[in-house]
This record gives sequence, structure tokens and C-alpha cells, in this order.
Amino acid sequence: MAGNTRGTFIVLEGIEGAGKTTQIPLLRDFLVSRGRRVVTTLEPGGTDVGRHIREVILDPRHKAMTSTAELLLYHAARAQHVEEVVRPQLENGAWILCDRFSDSTLAYQGYGRGLDRKLLHQLDEISTGGLVPDLAIILDLEVEAGLRRNVQAGKHDRMELESVEFHRRVREGFHKLADEKPYAVLVSGAGEALEVHTRIRAVVQERLCP
Ligand code: TMP
Repeated sequence: MAGNTRGTFIVLEGIEGAGKTTQIPLLRDFLVSRGRRVVTTLEPGGTDVGRHIREVILDPRHKAMTSTAELLLYHAARAQHVEEVVRPQLENGAWILCDRFSDSTLAYQGYGRGLDRKLLHQLDEISTGGLVPDLAIILDLEVEAGLRRNVQAGKHDRMELESVEFHRRVREGFHKLADEKPYAVLVSGAGEALEVHTRIRAVVQERLCP
């Protein structure tokens, strides 16, 4: 992790309906039982500014939003979140569990939208100041299964309304990122929540010895 921080930065990533939102509280409870101070947060939306940005990005009425505008909004939310929440909490020694971070931008705006990788890296440097996770758990699931879960949960935001092909590119992107990034691990999101939690816990224990 870049910078002299004392805490631990864990990110959960994955396609729509992969189960991050179910898994984060389970992992939080496990870490708390180990005596860790845990902060759960999300992108976009982990700050007041981020919550407003999230509404703008995900509003299904905003069909005219360009890929570049979308990219910059995710980065604006990230810049605010890193400075207001993530860095201060890491400096205070917290274990941060973050629902999505930079790899979502690489998967969705990079592999999904086809935006230029060099531009993505330049913007990432600006919004994160070089902060990378200690561990990114990428929950993996068949695209159709994930989208079905979200329909059942009543989620239908602007990103979820994208084509199945778009979501397939995103999933493929996450697979590539899991191969490339030393801090990233692909974990199957199939099955019952507790089975998935057991897999995640094994990875956290092996990598971070909480
Ligand atoms: P969520 O519903 O899982 O919280 O994520 C919000 C949506 O935003 C989801 O469709 C993924 C998308 N997203 C991006 O496209 N790029 C990003 O950088 C982030 C953080 C999320």
C-alpha cells in the first residue's frame, strides 16, 4: 500500500449481483471478533459528496451521459472518499472494508466501455494519490445469475440496464485484473452466503493474518 499508513485496506469487487453487499457485514463481524476496528464504506457513496455523485451516475434517466463524463464522476467521488475517509481511517489504524474501488473503474469504464487504459491510470493516480488496496477480493459469478439476483432485489439503475455483452466484458476484465494485480484474488460468489463467506475468510486469513 502506498503511503505510511497503519491500517489495512480491503476492497470487495465484482459484477452486478456478485454478493459484495451481503459479504461485507459478514467479513466485518469476523474481523471485529478478532478485535479489529473496522470501517465499512463504499464507492461511489462513502461521503456526502459521493452520495450525490452516485445519484447522478446511477439515475436511469441520465441516458445521455457520456462515457467520459461517467468516468470523471467516479473519479470525483473517489478523490473525495480517499481524502475524507480512507486515508484518515488508515492513518488511525482501522481495517477498511470498501465496496468497490479502482478495479471497478478498470473493469467497467476500461473493459466495459473501452476507454483508454493510459487515461484510466493517469486519473487513478490523481484520485487515489497512489493508494492501492492491501487485498481486493473479486467475487465472481455468471453474468446472468448476478443480473437475476439484482432484478429480484428490485435494483435497476443506469449501469444494470446495460447489455449482457457489456456485463460480460466487465466480468472478463475482472478476471484479467485478478491475474495481473498482486493484491487481487478471484473468489467464487456462487452458492449460499455462508459458503462464500468461508471462502473469503480463508483468503483474508491467508493473506493478512487478522
Ligand atoms: P454498486 O451498485 O455495486 O454499489 O455499484 C454501483 C455501480 O457503479 C455498479 O454498476 C458498478 C458501477 N461502477 C463503475 O462503473 N465504476 C466505478 O468506478 C465504480 C466504483 C462503480
